[in-house]
Amino acid sequence: MYVPEEKISEILNTSDIVELVSESVILKKSGRNFFGLCPFHSEKTPSFSVNPNKQIFYCFGCGAGGNALAFVMKYHGIGFPEAARMLARKHNIPIETKDLDPAKKQQIQSRESLFRLNKKVMSYYSGILKEDPAGKIAGAYLEKRGTHPDIIDRFCLGYSADKWDGAVGFLRKEKVGRKTALNSGLILPRKQGQGFYDRFRNRIMFPIFDINMQVAGFGGRVMDDAMPKYLNSPETPVYSKGRILYGLHAAKQHCRQEGSVYIVEGYFDFLSLFQHGIKNCVASLGTALTSEHVRILKGYASKMVLVFDSDAAGINAAKRSIKIFMQEGVDTRILVLPDGNDPDSFVMSRGRDAWDGVAKGAKTIMEFLLHLSMETHGLTVEGRVKILEDMKAYLAEISDSALRSLYVKELSETLNIDEKAVLEKVRDQVNRKGSHAPRGRLEEEIPKESDPLEEQLVSMMLNFPETIPDLIQAKVFDFFQSDRLRKIAQLISRTDPGDSGLVNEILGRVGGEADQELIASLAMKGSMAKEEEKVENIHETAGDIIKRFIRVRKKNENKITTKIISAERGGDADVMELLKLKQQEIQEYSR
Ligand code: UTP
Ligand code: MN
Repeated sequence: MYVPEEKISEILNTSDIVELVSESVILKKSGRNFFGLCPFHSEKTPSFSVNPNKQIFYCFGCGAGGNALAFVMKYHGIGFPEAARMLARKHNIPIETKDLDPAKKQQIQSRESLFRLNKKVMSYYSGILKEDPAGKIAGAYLEKRGTHPDIIDRFCLGYSADKWDGAVGFLRKEKVGRKTALNSGLILPRKQGQGFYDRFRNRIMFPIFDINMQVAGFGGRVMDDAMPKYLNSPETPVYSKGRILYGLHAAKQHCRQEGSVYIVEGYFDFLSLFQHGIKNCVASLGTALTSEHVRILKGYASKMVLVFDSDAAGINAAKRSIKIFMQEGVDTRILVLPDGNDPDSFVMSRGRDAWDGVAKGAKTIMEFLLHLSMETHGLTVEGRVKILEDMKAYLAEISDSALRSLYVKELSETLNIDEKAVLEKVRDQVNRKGSHAPRGRLEEEIPKESDPLEEQLVSMMLNFPETIPDLIQAKVFDFFQSDRLRKIAQLISRTDPGDSGLVNEILGRVGGEADQELIASLAMKGSMAKEEEKVENIHETAGDIIKRFIRVRKKNENKITTKIISAERGGDADVMELLKLKQQEIQEYSR
């Protein structure tokens, strides 16, 4: 779906990047910029920056960067037109869409129609629960479990009747296309003969909302001991288990307020906590937590509390999830509930105060793991050595070395083993782990696309557009060795700043994500320097930089001449040929 140029400008002018990013990243102001923890890679100290003047973001850690639209695309993992539409919708900017790439258009349309369909089906299921006589047993079940009517309404719970063609009939009545209906996963083709049948039958229905309050999928629970106890929507273009957290759409503001989030497993765990006023909570829906989940949550809370049942399955699930949290370097606590309770049964039977009481006793990851290991091995000398063996595997998972040494210290203190000895063990483990994947090698082999001097010049253009004529006059771009930077520099020199400012104009014109990021980084780097040093006479400074740049390039040319001479002596004909061409090229540029 094509979004017209002027609409893009309108969208960018209306949206405020600080406000937008703040919805998913905790930002703190520092000088002219805002800083926070990057949502695109794992980090402990904030290197993600937002510049309100230029309306761009840039991460000094991972290099992600761009304008408001780039942020929306990257954050939600969606394409440009969809991001534009999302922002437009938010600011009530109407867009008429012209046709573009048919495949893209199809993809967006199919996502939108799935959201529409899911919303309708949600009303259909909740209608049965509330109004249909068939829904009585479901109402009774929820009442028996103590789920409050307000919660049923707020989270739009429903009931899928005990028949094979409920949703099938509803979708037919609504004239939903067969393809969309099948894509939704709500109906399935019959195994024998023609036609379709309902996936969810005789189940309490939980719509699963995404962060924008759109219905992404469903979960359904039986009301007796039938198997499977819960059934969920399959992966669809709008529902991906690895990204969605149940309840986040409602919990996000509370997570912000509290600065922490409880991560529980089940639908009822979430709903019962919410009902008791513990609203900074999300449910993982029994699937293994992913780093993507953790990164999303980082935008709302800096402290995370993993809540598990005290049975063996719960402890194992905790152990599995812990690695992800360690890798992501978040302040994580583990809360194991007493007496075989899960959060739902605990809070329903003992109430909020009791919850707050046990929550205080949540352990740090190290305490939790140590405790487990100590229970197995004991604290004899042999036991402590075994504990260290257990723990080093976890410690080796932590990528942030500062964080790792903090854990090492904690461990050595608890075990009363020399810190150096612990560190050595962990290092061994890290090296063993690393030896399978030779990192860094590949990066070295990729030819450099960039050049620091050329970057400096482009950064100057973006931050001090008044120097652009100076650069043009000195024919500086002709000396650029990086094709990519030359193209960007030339584009900048031809671009009129317009209403949205030079940087945003440029970002609107370059297509690729890599170029977007490079430009954002160069714009941001300049803006950091600007804070420290006041530039008195910018044309003079620019003149100096230009002179130095051209001098370095000419010196390079001399180096090439020397190489040609030695190649000639050695009789290396191919090399000579290449070098001569290169020299010619440089001479042409400098004319
Ligand atoms: P549990 O088995 O711990 O159930 O699964 P629960 O949440 O306590 O459910 P109630 O209280 O008996 O109703 C935890 C979560 O794992 C997912 C569900 O999201 C569930 O809430 N799950 C569980 C499934 O997806 N399928 C299953 O068959 C079981
Ligand atoms: Mn339960």
